[in-house]
This record gives sequence, C-alpha cells and structure tokens, in this order.
Amino acid sequence: MIKRRLSSIHGHLNDDDGEAAVVRGPNQPFLIEQIRVDPPQKMEVRIKILYTSICHTDLSAWKGENEAQQAFPRILGHEAVGVVESVGEGVRELKEGDHVVPIFNGECGECVYCKSQGTNLCETFRVNPLKSVMQNDGKSRFSTKDGHPIFHFLNTSTFTEYSVLDSACLVKLHIHPDASTLKNMTLLSCGVSTGVGAAWNVANVQPGSSVAIFGLGAVGLAASQGARARGASKIIGVDRNPDKFLIGKTMGMTDFINPKDSPKPVHERVREMTNGGVDHSFECVGDAGVLREAFLSTHDGWGKTIIIGVHPSPQTLPLHPMELFDGRSIIGTTFGGYKGKTQLPDLAKACMRGVLNLEGLISHELPMENINEAFQLLKDGKALRCLLHV
Ligand code: APR
Ligand code: ZN
Ligand code: ZN
Repeated sequence: MIKRRLSSIHGHLNDDDGEAAVVRGPNQPFLIEQIRVDPPQKMEVRIKILYTSICHTDLSAWKGENEAQQAFPRILGHEAVGVVESVGEGVRELKEGDHVVPIFNGECGECVYCKSQGTNLCETFRVNPLKSVMQNDGKSRFSTKDGHPIFHFLNTSTFTEYSVLDSACLVKLHIHPDASTLKNMTLLSCGVSTGVGAAWNVANVQPGSSVAIFGLGAVGLAASQGARARGASKIIGVDRNPDKFLIGKTMGMTDFINPKDSPKPVHERVREMTNGGVDHSFECVGDAGVLREAFLSTHDGWGKTIIIGVHPSPQTLPLHPMELFDGRSIIGTTFGGYKGKTQLPDLAKACMRGVLNLEGLISHELPMENINEAFQLLKDGKALRCLLHV
C-alpha cells in the first residue's frame, strides 16, 4: 500500500524502485540514487524505512575500517524504524503494516546459540563485518538501475527508502507509538540497547555502586542512563571533548574527567575519587589506550570492565596476563547482551514509560538527502545521534 502510494506520487517509479544513500568507496561522499530493491525471498521481509540514525560503526565502515572496504558500492546504516511493506515465503510473525526495528545481531530462534540462555549471539545472524549479501542465496537484493549489485551491511542496511532483511533481524514493536515517539525507537537498533544492556545485562549494576564511562557518545550516555536507572551513586564520565559533559549531567553523570586536562593518568584520578576504583567501567570508544585506563580504573578484587567500543583490527588486549591476578575482569559485549527479538519489545515498552530518555540522545534531525552533512557532524564531535528522515 505504502509502495503504491509512493509509485503514484512519482509516476515514473515501478514497484521495486526506491531512493538510497549509496557509498561507492571508502571516504567517498554518499550519493542519493534511485535503486532497485528486489522483493523479499524465503524468510525475508521488505521494509519501508521511516527514520534512520547514524552510529559510530557506520562512520568506521564508511572509512573502510574493519575490512568493510571489501564491499562497495554499499548501503550502510543499522539503526532505524520502519514499516513492513511485504513478506517472503514462510514469514509468519510479521505482516504488512507492522512497525519494526532492525537488529544487526539477529535472533533466528532455532540455533544452539539462540536456544542457550548464556548468550545473545546467533549462529547465522551474528555480526560478520565481511558479510554483504543475503543468507538465502549469497546475493544482494539491492541493485543499480543498470543491474549492478549494491551490497548490504551488518544484516540491516538502513540508509535507504526500502531494505530487505532476514526476518530474524527484525523486531516487531508491540506498541502503537505516536510519530514523535516512533522516531526515537531507531536507537533501539543499536546505541541505546548496546549501552543500557551493557549496564543492565552485562555489568548488572547494583544500587549504590560506582561506575566510570569512557566515551560519551550515544552509547556511553545510554550506559550512564542504564547505571542511573539501577541506582548507581557515582557515575564518572571520561571524554576528551568537554562539550559532552553538559549532556552527560542530564543522563545521570555525577563527575567528569577530561584526559587532556588531567596531569596524571585517568585511572589514578578515578581511584582517588572512589576509594580505590569503580565497581564497573565501560569502554565506549574503541581505543586500546582508553581500554587500559578503563581496566585500571576498576577496584581490585571485583572490578569489571565492559568493552563496548569497536576496536579497529589488528589489535590485542593492552594487558599483561598477570594484571588479571588482582581480581579485575574484562568482558566484551555485543548488543548489550540482548536477545533482540525476545527482549527488545519489553525495552521498547520501558522507553514508552519514560524509564529511559531516548529523545535526549537525538541531537540533530535532517532529511536523508543531507546525509553527508550528518556524517560531518558526527566526525566533528557535534552530533550524538543525527536522525535522518527518509
Ligand atoms: N579518550 C576519551 N574520549 C574519547 C577518546 C579518547 N581517547 N576518543 C574519542 N573519545 C570520545 C569522543 O569525544 C566521543 O564523545 O568518545 C566518544 C565517541 O562517541 P561517538 O563517536 O558518538 O560514538 P558512539 O556512537 O557512541 O559509539 C561508541 O561504541 O558501538 C561502538 O562502534 C561504536 O566504537 C564505537 C563506540
Ligand atoms: Zn540463531
Ligand atoms: Zn551501532
């Protein structure tokens, strides 16, 4: 229906056409192009993207980090909210008109990982930065008008009017949010789920505990909101961009350290402020030096560091194995430990009740045509999340 309305507005379009922001090579500007989006195949879903937002991982992929340079032209983007346009054979739990949120860390529900309570990974739809085609047939559903493939990204690809995803990578919103709430739900695709989930599911922050958060982008600020909601009494924000401190305060942070202004290593400051170190530290940058500071900021005996930032390869842990003998531990997390299909609907409801402030993380809104400007804002450290209206 949505499709037909689109076709009638733009009379020249056929049913499988749509507009997308295509990137043709690392660091190349996005080009808004008319592309073809094939119908969904078995267990796939074609969605109309309503809103999409830009995460640091999109920026890394755009720069060609993490082997992403293998697959261009490509449609990046993994945070969005959309509406189901059509479903492929075998899809039972989604139907035309459903509001959905894409998840890059899918949940097939069938594999040994999905059946385990100990992980949120999925054998088939876990993160694979090299994957750029659909699972079914190893082909892309996107192509240029002259038939050349345009590759997928992170099981999702959202900088486009229409996208095709495996149904395992879509979560149905069981709520009927109004338009202003709906657009904030893009953050459940990655930033908020990752940050809040790290505090709730991975660290399991307890009332009265102390926390240090390194990197105050949307992910770090979401972790702060998660820690505040759990009753943490001290939340120390660390960022080299002091502009982030004001917003950090509104997300529950009690103290701030700018490493650039600190005469001594950040971990020494944190330990002084917390009587020996924080209970939990979160690395939300993706930098080995920051990770080491985060690790050393925790209290010996029980301190736990959660790695959220995506580190460029090749990179190894910046620790001597004996440093782990002091009882500090370190753990990485994908998607905040959430099993997306099973657990995100409840997180969405919690957001509707105001448990978390999603709106505060959206710093800018622009039409998708202005995507290059939006990337510049993130590069310049001016944006938390820029929401694109598709
Ligand atoms: N020390 C302290 N802060 C730093 C440093 C550093 N060396 N380098 C960068 N930062 C800060 C930036 O100033 C910025 O405020 O880290 C923050 C990163 O924020 P964003 O770029 O908005 O990134 P975000 O989308 O929050 O993602 C953070 O999580 O999911 C991953 O790939 C993502 O690695 C990225 C991380
Ligand atoms: Zn699975
Ligand atoms: Zn992301």
